[in-house]
Amino acid sequence: MSEQNRDPAVPEKIVTDETEQSKEKPFGHFTRRTFIAQLGAAGIAATATPSLAAAATQEAAAPSAREETIAVTLSINGKKQTLNVEPRVTLLDCLRERLNLTGTKKGCDHGQCGACTVHINGRRVNSCLTFAAMHEGDEITTIEGIGQPGNLHPMQAAFVEHDGYQCGYCTSGQIMSAVAVLKEPWGPEDKDVREAMSGNICRCGAYPNIVAAVHQVRGNSQKSS
Ligand code: FES
Ligand code: FES
Repeated sequence: MSEQNRDPAVPEKIVTDETEQSKEKPFGHFTRRTFIAQLGAAGIAATATPSLAAAATQEAAAPSAREETIAVTLSINGKKQTLNVEPRVTLLDCLRERLNLTGTKKGCDHGQCGACTVHINGRRVNSCLTFAAMHEGDEITTIEGIGQPGNLHPMQAAFVEHDGYQCGYCTSGQIMSAVAVLKEPWGPEDKDVREAMSGNICRCGAYPNIVAAVHQVRGNSQKSS
């Protein structure tokens, strides 16, 4: 721009900067300036705490994931419930987060501890390893469905009697497994009960008392059958 054509209202310095900007060579579809700005933003994202980065990822993924749901009707502790669930929701999360049945515990969430044990059509299952959407029409029984305060299942009463727990976190899973064992063909020895219950881990180490409780109820149920 010649000195003659310059707008006198515009300071000379700005005119000089604009001229320098116009000389920037494009880098792909970026200019040098926008490329550096975006590189800086990427650097900030890379050094952000993992939780912030994860939150950003989840936020980005959330809308499409939320849109896709499946209607499923489950019979939970004898009561039919129809829910819209995302296909990726485990039965454990469905029970705890959607139905507020928090007696079923999440320990490992990987099928290794047994804290999440429930009964599906009478058989014990780790509810963290199965999707809620797979159980259309199935009968699901949780710890809330086998007994309540004042009306305990004999296995719950035996756990109380034998101190079969300390912190109690594993206990609902232990009891659900123990109730299932009553209908399974295990031998009568300690080692048989230990093996039958080996999928249920107790970090407090209450195993001798758990075995005693199971023996008591098995003995009682055998006598009464
Ligand atoms: S939470 Fe399901 S097996 Fe541990
Ligand atoms: S009672 Fe604490 S983990 Fe079993």
